[in-house]
Amino acid sequence: MLNFAAKKIKDHLCDFTHHRPAYYAGCYHSHSNMSSRNIILGIESSCDDTSAAVIADGLLLSNVTASQSVHEEYGGVVPELASRAHQLNIVPVIDTALRRAEIEREEISAVAVTRGPGLLGSLLVGTSFAKGLVISRRQAACALIEVNHLQGHIMAHFVEPSPEMVEKGYIRGLTLADLPLRHPDFPFLCLLVSGGNSQLVVVRSPHDMEIVGQTIDDAAGEAFDKCAKVLGLPYPGGPWIDKLAKQGNPAAFHFAKPNIPAYDYSFSGLKTSFLYTIRDMLREQHLDSVEQLLELTPNLKEDLCASIQATVIEVLMTKLRLAAKDLGIKRVAVAGGVSANSGLRQAFVDYGNKYGAEVFIPPFAFTTDNAAMIAEAGYYKFLREDFCPLDAVPYAKTRI
Ligand code: KG4
Repeated sequence: MLNFAAKKIKDHLCDFTHHRPAYYAGCYHSHSNMSSRNIILGIESSCDDTSAAVIADGLLLSNVTASQSVHEEYGGVVPELASRAHQLNIVPVIDTALRRAEIEREEISAVAVTRGPGLLGSLLVGTSFAKGLVISRRQAACALIEVNHLQGHIMAHFVEPSPEMVEKGYIRGLTLADLPLRHPDFPFLCLLVSGGNSQLVVVRSPHDMEIVGQTIDDAAGEAFDKCAKVLGLPYPGGPWIDKLAKQGNPAAFHFAKPNIPAYDYSFSGLKTSFLYTIRDMLREQHLDSVEQLLELTPNLKEDLCASIQATVIEVLMTKLRLAAKDLGIKRVAVAGGVSANSGLRQAFVDYGNKYGAEVFIPPFAFTTDNAAMIAEAGYYKFLREDFCPLDAVPYAKTRI
């Protein structure tokens, strides 16, 4: 059985190689030939969101995401449950994305899929499905493109949604009022902040990105989530901290700020400082639980949220400012799940005003995990024929 499957893949690889010249010719004539468009199906399944998007000739036609609520009661993503939920969601999500884009499976030129970093079981669902889709194509070859999830977040800045599809409500979270989206010129400095990563990346082109700084321990999103957990807030805690911080005093508490060389980040000390602050308050008031403490002290939760948010933002912006100054870059962008944070978005606006820098903040729809950014990164790879062999396996750890 296994041998048969392996042989089929091998035959298909030969088939694919055989078809390449004609297929490439088709790609390059597509701009003058309306019947053969460059159609990229993007698939994202690196963590707990199953997402699919379609980009045709550079225009985003659909972006569909199924989020997983199964993790809420556990206070974090449970990898095994995430992969099972991806398995349930992937067919309807891809089907809906293709249907909304009015694209038939046979029309897809390439499937761009997140290969890593992320949860291996979750990534396996997306990559296996993508490979299956590519292999199942009989009439015309279809390429497989691997996308690095982190590069995908950065490429979210280049997504060009179809106004017609936005009007129909097919691009989740976007309205016509959000259009046109602004795209940065190269080079720019991108602060990439998500649940698993905090990086400063110099982006010279869609294919040339260099990490100049990164966290040596926890990520910014992780720090938000862990502090939120201490306060008894649901997972993911970042959006809750953001919400509560609006009613709190950002100067109420002073948490330890890391002193890390160059442009690297560290958030584990900040998390410990947050924990110690609460522990000391519990001791002083002879209380047993955080719940009691929060109940007895008016506005304490809000003040803690505002203070931790202000500290995380200050740490992030200090290194961004330093790197931009040293590298002489006047164009800065923010990407990743934490870029949804209202305080961080405002800090970017303030930075632009203060330092005369061009600032790029993604629409909310493209901050957290989505397949539009994966399809976009895939589209640029497609144009330079940067395809991936069918035996490529997912990877869990960060690499750009
Ligand atoms: O990029 P993302 O969706 O997934 C990863 O690839 O990690 O980022 C998820 C992270 C979580 O830590 C979540 O708490 C954080 O983004 N996040 C926020 C906000 N919205 C999402 N953090 C702070 N404020 C927000 N509004």
